[in-house]
Amino acid sequence: MAEKNGLIAVIGPMASEIDYITDTIENKNIRRIGGWNFVSGTLGEKPVVAVRSFIGMANAAAATALLIENYSPRCVIIQGTCGGHNPKLHKGDIVIGESVIETCRLVTCQLKEGEGSRIDAANVIKAQIAHADTAENTDRIFCDRNLVDVAKTVPYSGGKLVTGCISSGDIWNREYDVISFMHRSRGSDCEEMEGFAVGQICSSFGVPFIDIRVLSNSELYDEAFDESLALNCQKFCVDFINRL
Ligand code: 5AD
Repeated sequence: MAEKNGLIAVIGPMASEIDYITDTIENKNIRRIGGWNFVSGTLGEKPVVAVRSFIGMANAAAATALLIENYSPRCVIIQGTCGGHNPKLHKGDIVIGESVIETCRLVTCQLKEGEGSRIDAANVIKAQIAHADTAENTDRIFCDRNLVDVAKTVPYSGGKLVTGCISSGDIWNREYDVISFMHRSRGSDCEEMEGFAVGQICSSFGVPFIDIRVLSNSELYDEAFDESLALNCQKFCVDFINRL
């Protein structure tokens, strides 16, 4: 991780996933760039910049690139809610991402009229991390080891605290078999709609990143979406930032 007193960037896709953090920031300065408001200031002793990215991969990628270009953060934290893929996890549990993968960067298998859909037989296409004149092809981006190690030390009483693999994509899966397949075949513990996009852009810029998510729903147990759990994740992240 870069120098200790550099700016820490934190992203939340929905208002409910970032408002507590922006409300907690002191000495606030708000700067609008494009469609995004960047709120810089201090969280405790730490200089931070927070942004509501809005939902989805394109928004997350754009907000991340703007953050890095305009604020040169020492690390980027994407946090918010997710849905469970791992049957050991329930609403309220927090997943510290060790890695992120994509839910739907796939080539489907060739099927003729009437042969239906076989999403489980699709092949994963690797994403291209841009490095100017070359591309790094990967289907998994690792969160920064040091950030993960610090996150593991943060106390959490709202549920279990685990490390794992987070899937991202512009899709909200509600099919039990697809969710179960994602867990068994790709090791996915939960899904959301931004983390990989943030990791991809951070990798291009060489900026350390971490994805931290609270389970707000699990189709495996009919646990319906509870947006209010986003607060747990933000409070956890404020404690986390204090330790960085
Ligand atoms: N699938 C996809 N995204 C989810 N989110 C919460 N639960 C899920 C889920 N089961 C998050 C996304 C997005 C917003 C709709 O909520 O990251 O920002």
